[in-house]
Amino acid sequence: MNYKLSYYQEKLDSETLKNEFIFYLKEKLFFNDKDIYLNKDRELSVEEQNLIQDFIEKKKEGIPLDYILNTSKFYENDFYVDSRVLIPRPETEILVDYINNNFSSSLKVLDAGTGSGCIGISIALKNPNFDVYGSDYSIDSLNVAATNKKTLDPKNFSLIHANWLSCFEKNSFDLIVSNPPYISDQDPHLSNLMHEPNKALVSSDDGLGDIKLIVDQSTKVLKNDGILILEHGYDQQNEVTDIFKSNHFSNISTLKDFQSLPRITLGIFKS
Ligand SMILES: C[S@@+](CC[C@H](N)C(=O)[O-])C[C@H]1O[C@@H](n2cnc3c(N)ncnc32)[C@H](O)[C@@H]1O
Repeated sequence: MNYKLSYYQEKLDSETLKNEFIFYLKEKLFFNDKDIYLNKDRELSVEEQNLIQDFIEKKKEGIPLDYILNTSKFYENDFYVDSRVLIPRPETEILVDYINNNFSSSLKVLDAGTGSGCIGISIALKNPNFDVYGSDYSIDSLNVAATNKKTLDPKNFSLIHANWLSCFEKNSFDLIVSNPPYISDQDPHLSNLMHEPNKALVSSDDGLGDIKLIVDQSTKVLKNDGILILEHGYDQQNEVTDIFKSNHFSNISTLKDFQSLPRITLGIFKS
């Protein structure tokens, strides 16, 4: 049976799904606007129908479009992603942008919990004078980050297998950045995120367990006057600020996301 594109378009029941379908047609089947809007009643090839059917089945299971396409736009690049890593989020771009716009001298930087490598690689590409490391305890994540390192080819980015900062020596870094897991296991939003790795999302202690560990360990590996920058939940600003204060950080401030919610806290370490 040869179906037409209009047959599939009529089956989609939400605007979001319709928009994702158009994006998929352009990215995966290389359709242009004419194919989608003017020639939608031409009969599709078997291969085209199979690819469209694959999209429909995966969306029925709730699989995010970035995983279906195996690509995620982040900052200025396309990153390979699959279900082994968190899909990079737009608010994390604020963190990258802050670093790219506020530091220029040569710095040794760690992206702790690098996942797809999106933070570390974006910083490395924009700052060839930085020496950037991406660490993760998940070998799966490191393999995805290695794929992105190969494709995007930053010359100043290296990957390290590490449990947070435990393996690094004293005075190792000028700047540590991390988007750690910070969602409580009781958070109702988790049911919408079931296709992403639980260990990239959920942290103990009401979502603050990993943040506490990273702040504490960073005081052992940051240089004096080194900077720690952490992404966190919109409702964790006060707790995260207190954690920074009780670990000898000063000049603590918080950046807001696109919805003006407090999402990124930073401070200077005074040894
Ligand atoms: C929220 S994801 C962030 C991924 C990526 N940096 C991003 O912003 O899209 C958290 C990452 O921390 C890693 N992670 C979790 N526990 C860790 C640990 N104990 N040591 C190192 N990395 C860890 C996870 O594997 C995951 O890749």
